[in-house]
Amino acid sequence: MTITKICCIGAGYVGGPTMAVIAKKNPNIKVTIVDINQERIDAWNDADVSKLPIYEPGLAEIVEETRGKNLFFSTEIDKAIDESEMIFISVNTPTKTYGKGKGMAADLKYVELCARNIAEVATTDKIVVEKSTLPVRTAQAIKSILHNTGSNVNFEILSNPEFLAEGTAIQDLLNPDRVLIGGESESAIESLANIYGSWVSQDRILRTNVWSSELSKLTANAFLAQRISSINAISELCEHTEADVSEVARAIGMDSRIGSKFLNASIGFGGSCFQKDILNLVYIARSYGLNAVADYWEQVIILNDHQKRRFSDNLISTLYNTVSGKKIAMLGWAFKKDTNDTRESAAIYVADHLLSEQAQIAVYDPKVSEKKTQADLNYLNTRSEEENKSLMTSFEDPYEATKDAHAIAIMTEWDEFKSYDWKKIYSQMKKPAFIFDGRNILNKDAMESIGFEYSSIGK
Ligand code: UDX
Ligand code: ADP
Repeated sequence: MTITKICCIGAGYVGGPTMAVIAKKNPNIKVTIVDINQERIDAWNDADVSKLPIYEPGLAEIVEETRGKNLFFSTEIDKAIDESEMIFISVNTPTKTYGKGKGMAADLKYVELCARNIAEVATTDKIVVEKSTLPVRTAQAIKSILHNTGSNVNFEILSNPEFLAEGTAIQDLLNPDRVLIGGESESAIESLANIYGSWVSQDRILRTNVWSSELSKLTANAFLAQRISSINAISELCEHTEADVSEVARAIGMDSRIGSKFLNASIGFGGSCFQKDILNLVYIARSYGLNAVADYWEQVIILNDHQKRRFSDNLISTLYNTVSGKKIAMLGWAFKKDTNDTRESAAIYVADHLLSEQAQIAVYDPKVSEKKTQADLNYLNTRSEEENKSLMTSFEDPYEATKDAHAIAIMTEWDEFKSYDWKKIYSQMKKPAFIFDGRNILNKDAMESIGFEYSSIGK
């Protein structure tokens, strides 16, 4: 089938950038991104592209180029579904917060609602593409919903997991290591492969069965997260042995079998995917009675939680075992640089821990608003909204955030932090002035020569 109209349900971190690139590279295909969230759609349609709901380098330019030509954002979900030949499901699949599988399994209610919506509305044959990361065998459930509509519409289901990383989404989409398409119907697979074929060479487009495709996405994220937990485990050992984790990472990374990427020790990984996907993998393994497999992967999460806790414990013990009433400046709140996404950011958990010790927290993040930092904290439900507001404040200027602070905690590796006037910051802080560099981005000697008490991860 030649595709002329695409609909994407879900205008989020995955749907937005992915469809923008598909539209840019396929000017003859009309791409409509729909969402139930009117505010989000309005922001995508804002004439001022600096107000798009998602910050991602290079995204605003592509939206500006394609929006209104062959890329559209809308809340008219039914209309977009009905007129399209191909529908991507790109809605959120958070970890369940209730019932069976609470805290472990993926909550598929949004995906199921989409499938039901498609089943209800469709009057012509459709290719339905799972873009959201889903537990292995979810396509079975979608298929069953779609095929029991009683209508004569034919649905083909494909799994096409997205491997983009936030902050580099546009680069990752324009130049992917691979595109993975899982499905039963060869013609449906080729329809999608042709769309990617506009800019990705065919040898990078892998065709597999649906289950392999679904499981590959979970496995890729589990392997990546495992590397971070592995180097973070070594970072703690380094701190006790005078080994330097950056030197160890460099030494092992030069082994071509290991490779050098994803070996930066840190306060712990965050983001919407790693934890959710591993928990999901663990849940699936347990549901098949594979407890050794489940325990193995669960340890990646246990170590990550330990790393976050270790960071705040270390900060507290260094500040003479009390942070009560002390101002701690947090530089960075996003889960990594170059994004405004804060989901599962280590900063949230570290802040929560420090607030429970009655610290006063001042946050500065170049892309995250106070509304968001407060909402993230309130979501944990540790204390009342009023209390959170009185204990934690956001600043729009890093020099204000750090003024009179006892310590600075670097939570995100934003490049701008490296070029601050650190002498000025030092002069405005309480003495001794501490820096806890959770991302190992500052130079120890330079900071110590200014007068800071500097510590980083794994050194
Ligand atoms: C990840 C996968 O990389 C991507 O392929 C998938 O599609 C979605 O999940 P993302 O979560 O956007 O992408 O960012 P990623 O760059 O993987 O970083 C995840 C977390 O790990 C961040 O908190 C990051 O700071 C941390 N990290 C990454 C480290 O602590 N050390 C590293 O060496 C690399
Ligand atoms: P991701 O990182 O996976 O893209 P996001 O939470 O950023 O996740 O985006 C998912 C989007 O999907 C949200 O904007 C949400 O409003 C939207 N969404 C969820 N369920 C539906 C639905 N049934 N119909 C349309 N949009 C939906």
